[in-house]
Order: sequence, then C-alpha cells, then structure tokens
Amino acid sequence: MKKLLLIESSPRKERSHSSKAAATLLQALQAKDNSLQVDKINLFEADLPPFDGYTISAKYAVMHGQPHDEKQAKAWQAVKDLAERFSAADIYIISIPMWNFSIPYRLKHYIDLLVQPGLTFSVDEAGQYNGLLKNKKAYLVYASGGVYTEEAGTAAYDQQKGYMRQILGFIGITDIQEIIAAPTLAGPEAAEKADKDAAQQIGTIA
Ligand SMILES: Cc1cc2nc3c(=O)[nH]c(=O)nc-3n(C[C@H](O)[C@H](O)[C@H](O)COP(=O)(O)O)c2cc1C
Repeated sequence: MKKLLLIESSPRKERSHSSKAAATLLQALQAKDNSLQVDKINLFEADLPPFDGYTISAKYAVMHGQPHDEKQAKAWQAVKDLAERFSAADIYIISIPMWNFSIPYRLKHYIDLLVQPGLTFSVDEAGQYNGLLKNKKAYLVYASGGVYTEEAGTAAYDQQKGYMRQILGFIGITDIQEIIAAPTLAGPEAAEKADKDAAQQIGTIA
C-alpha cells in the first residue's frame, strides 16, 4: 500500500487554481490505485515550528557531530517529526502558487525545516552531499497569474519551477512530473482555460 502526501501551499481554498488541479490529480491517482493512503497538509493551516536560532544551531551540531543541548534537542525533535511525516510518503502532490516569481513563504518555511542533515540529506567524508529520499515520485502542480515560457520571453522570471526541481533533487526526489495552470489572472476566460489545460495535463499523466 503506497502513501501519498498532498501538500497545499495556497491559502485560497476553493478559489485556488493549484489546489483545484491538485485535488483533480489526487482523484485521478486514487481512481488508478484505490489502496493509496492519503495524508494532507495545508501549509497555511499547519503549525510549522519556527526556523530559529536553536533550530539552526541544532542543524550545525548534527553537521559537526556534536551533541544537542536541551533547547536544541527540543527544536530538533520538532524538525524530525515533520521530516519523518514527509519521508513516510512514496508519492507527493505539491500545489504551488507563484508568489513574486517564486514560491509562497509558507512553502519556503516548510522546505527550510525539511531539508536537514541526517534526515533528508547527508554529507560524506569527501564533502559530497547526498539526498536520502529514494524511490519517491513527486507531482508539482503550479499556478501563476502570468505565463512564463521561452516563447513569451518570460522564462527567466520564473524562480518557482527550477527551484522546486532543484531542492527536491537535493534531497533525492528526481522523479518529477509537472502540471501548470496559467495564466490565472488574465481574465475569467483565460483562467477557465488554465484550469482546463491543467485538467488535460492531468488526464495525460494519470
Ligand atoms: C502575493 C502574491 C504574489 C504574486 N506574484 C505573482 C507573480 O510574481 N507572477 C505571477 O504570474 N502571478 C503572481 N501572483 C498571482 C498568483 O500566482 C495567481 O493568483 C495564482 O493563481 C495563485 O495560485 P492559487 O490560485 O493556487 O492560489 C501573485 C499572487 C499573490 C497573492
């Protein structure tokens, strides 16, 4: 039985194009495999622990092979719980609105908590970084107000997709499929077409 983790990073609930496409994709994957065990996190509702000085010193202590003091141990436990919940999944659906050409701050907060030595990546004696998550699959569901393509001459502005591929690759998740709902802010017709295009991409994938 495979585990699927749905991570929503739009706070817009039923108005969200990325959440809508992610829900459609989830349904399609469940139709193919009704034994999927689904866990869901909405990053604007989740109680994310702070990524503060104690957490950073706990991270560096791990990297330097040093023990944690009491405050670092508490901060590290919260990070471990979050990383273990993430690592337990075999499949991810991450819905990702574009905010200021990049990702929403709650998703960046989640990533900063998740990307940790000994939990999701390791550093070997030669100083080589290795992702610890293996045999996972991620579906990245993007939404943006505008269109970011080579043809439109706007691709260079897009700090959303390349970053997500890079950071997931860093922790070992390289089997990635992408769905794009765009443009969502070019009028109601264009927004409707963006939803339809995303549904079509999902149909092809699933
Ligand atoms: C704070 C904020 C910043 C945004 N920045 C951009 C941007 O840089 N480029 C863009 O094309 N759209 C931008 N948008 C529009 C969103 O990408 C668009 O509304 C998208 O549909 C959001 O995803 P959602 O519908 O899943 O919430 C921004 C929206 C917000 C709220």
